[in-house]
Amino acid sequence: MKKTVRDIEVKGKKALVRCDFNVPMQDGKITDDIRITSALPTIKYLIENGARVILMSHMGRPKGEAKMEYTLKPVAERLAELLGQEVIFSSVPEVVNQQVIDTAASLKDGQVMLLENVRFRGEETKNEAGFAKELAQLGDLFVNDAFGTAHRAHCSTAGVADYLPAVSGFLIEKEVKFLGDALENPERPFVAIMGGAKVGDKIPVIENLLKKVDTLIIGGGMSYTFFKAMGLEIGTSILDEESIELAGELLKKAEAAGVNMILPTDVVCAKEFDNNSEKLTCERTEIPADRMGMDIGPKTIERIRGELSKAKTVVWNGPMGVFEMPNFAEGTKQVGAALAESDAATIIGGGDSAAAVEQFGYADKMTHISTGGGASLEFLEGKVLPGIAVLEEKE
Ligand code: 3PG
Repeated sequence: MKKTVRDIEVKGKKALVRCDFNVPMQDGKITDDIRITSALPTIKYLIENGARVILMSHMGRPKGEAKMEYTLKPVAERLAELLGQEVIFSSVPEVVNQQVIDTAASLKDGQVMLLENVRFRGEETKNEAGFAKELAQLGDLFVNDAFGTAHRAHCSTAGVADYLPAVSGFLIEKEVKFLGDALENPERPFVAIMGGAKVGDKIPVIENLLKKVDTLIIGGGMSYTFFKAMGLEIGTSILDEESIELAGELLKKAEAAGVNMILPTDVVCAKEFDNNSEKLTCERTEIPADRMGMDIGPKTIERIRGELSKAKTVVWNGPMGVFEMPNFAEGTKQVGAALAESDAATIIGGGDSAAAVEQFGYADKMTHISTGGGASLEFLEGKVLPGIAVLEEKE
């Protein structure tokens, strides 16, 4: 168990807090602030307990250049609204300079400042000691609460811990509890649902889950690579050519592990990758040569609903079809609905599945929605995330 902000004295201390404020933006406006609201419990705790709060984050991938479309200024403004107090934004493109050091040193108990995008410095993603030291000199302790970036070993997520006492914030604590409990101590039956386009990206996760789950449901674009491995014709459906062999091996591994592996038995096809393309529902053995699978079919939905109604723990990562197109969203929507009705612990991996439950209005019915896309996948693979590994253990 990692130490958290609760386990140390924070009063009067300068807490250097890494958050993941990599929020989606359009025309300079934040389109989804969930990553900011998810960081509030830690920030509020620090304010209420008299810490001097110095926040840092990345946004996008500016590759070491101070590209102003990636400034964190809109985040500072939104955060100030949410906290109902001033957030001093340090608009210094080099992130740390004498002015920033002076501002940090002059903070009073309960005051909050936000540094500029740490990826404006090229050293950040290389985890170079020089920049990690520059950041570390601003604080007395390091709090990592950036679960979404915990799979990166960068200066602000890992390097600073070489120079400061390092503890976890409440978001990382919560993510590790829900994802970790599901993996290590699930109430059974434990069902995992994997979807999305590419099998290649998810093979390590599927391999790890095969050791843990009772049932593994595969849907979405990756199904067609499995169908190909089973010798079926898939028309013009998306195919991850390089992963056909591995998909075949996963099918064998599932059988050997005694895992109930469920693949779609019927699919909804279309001629074009277009919402208005005519729909055809067919068996997976009958996909026409000129059509592509866009969603799971009604029989598959019923079967999945049946499995989910018995489950006690469910982990879901990846949509069942092209849910961005309303005509091909039914499978993903119905899985979301089944989870919303279920009394199982429902854990949603970040990225597309999180966006889907949000879009269909089921978000508040889930036990936990991860704020990490890549990070939650690596966690489910069983990897140790560098941004968590550097944090101190509880005695
Ligand atoms: C994410 O959005 O997954 C995290 O913020 C990490 O971003 P990155 O993939 O650019 O490191």
